Amino acid sequence: MELVKKGFSVLVSIHSKLIHKYYQHLYRKRKLRIFFMGIGSLYLLRRLSQLAMALAPSIRRNMTARYGEESWAVVTGGSDGIGKEFCIQLAKQKFNIAIIGRNAKKMDQVCLELQGFGVQTKFVVADFNEGHTVEFYNKIYEQLEYLDISILVNNVGAAEAGQFEQTKMEDSLMMLRVNALSTLMMTRILISKLQNREKKSAVITVSSGLAYLPCPFVSVYSGTKAFTNYFTQSLALTSKKIDFLSATSLGVSTKMLGNRKGPNILETNEFVKNVINDLRQGKTHSFGCQRHKRFINHLLWRNQNFRNQAKIQIGHNLMNC
Ligand SMILES: NC(=O)c1ccc[n+]([C@@H]2O[C@H](COP(=O)([O-])OP(=O)(O)OC[C@H]3O[C@@H](n4cnc5c(N)ncnc54)[C@H](OP(=O)(O)O)[C@@H]3O)[C@@H](O)[C@H]2O)c1
Repeated sequence: MELVKKGFSVLVSIHSKLIHKYYQHLYRKRKLRIFFMGIGSLYLLRRLSQLAMALAPSIRRNMTARYGEESWAVVTGGSDGIGKEFCIQLAKQKFNIAIIGRNAKKMDQVCLELQGFGVQTKFVVADFNEGHTVEFYNKIYEQLEYLDISILVNNVGAAEAGQFEQTKMEDSLMMLRVNALSTLMMTRILISKLQNREKKSAVITVSSGLAYLPCPFVSVYSGTKAFTNYFTQSLALTSKKIDFLSATSLGVSTKMLGNRKGPNILETNEFVKNVINDLRQGKTHSFGCQRHKRFINHLLWRNQNFRNQAKIQIGHNLMNC
């Protein structure tokens, strides 16, 4: 009898242990399911919000409402290429446009075109290659002082390619002044004005994908673009009144690229439209398009050897432009 009782109690304890284990298993399974469901719904939410942003422009910030009607956009290097396209797209959104460039005739022509959109225009003649003193930038400021400036587009840029030791020293200095110093100093002279407005303001810096993929043969250019990208993104971190955005695309079809066309080369209107849309979504960084974003991210994830070979190839291609 004792033996039967013992056997029975052993059976009961095994049974209860099994039941316990089974419930534990169910509990873990449930927890796991909840965990995965959580991740899944977060992913879905992210995708849905991206879709909503893409489909409904009204969800994005309204440019004139945010930055102020009839305020001014200052575009450096607005006489051609990407800068000219920024002027056109911002003028279409009823921003008055002030261009800063070196060629008065070209800027006059662009201003005439922009007036067709019913906005005011102005141009300031300045060769950024001569801009290495505070006086140079103060002179520019004097001509902009009386305008209600809401947007600064740091666009001006120039590129010279070649084996570094064979390049002209003047070219290296030129790229530092035109690409890097202009972005730093234009932001510096306008920052108080932009900050002290009632409405928000914006600073868009046209950097380059080479800020992430430093390439040989365009090493100085890559360096200047890394500077402008870091500079703009660091200011974005604490800025409350100014929306800073750095644009780091790869090829855009302009005279800088010998007006080349290709499946991976963006047209200026597509690039500028995407950058402005990213600004309207509150982003502080734009790759200019998904293709360039994917390409840059893909290379950044690859091993160093592969990445370096790709950078050398890109450097070669750019030198051939
Ligand atoms: N094209 C690309 O593939 C690409 C890709 C990524 C980033 N970016 C960047 O985008 C920006 C615009 O380049 P882009 O492709 O539009 O080049 P772009 O067609 O050559 O236009 C450059 C603009 O800058 C002006 N500029 C050049 N040097 C100047 C100087 N010393 N002083 C005053 N103005 C000067 C030019 O004036 P003029 O009309 O007098 O020449 C022109 O208006 C640059 O910062 C560039 O680095 C370009």
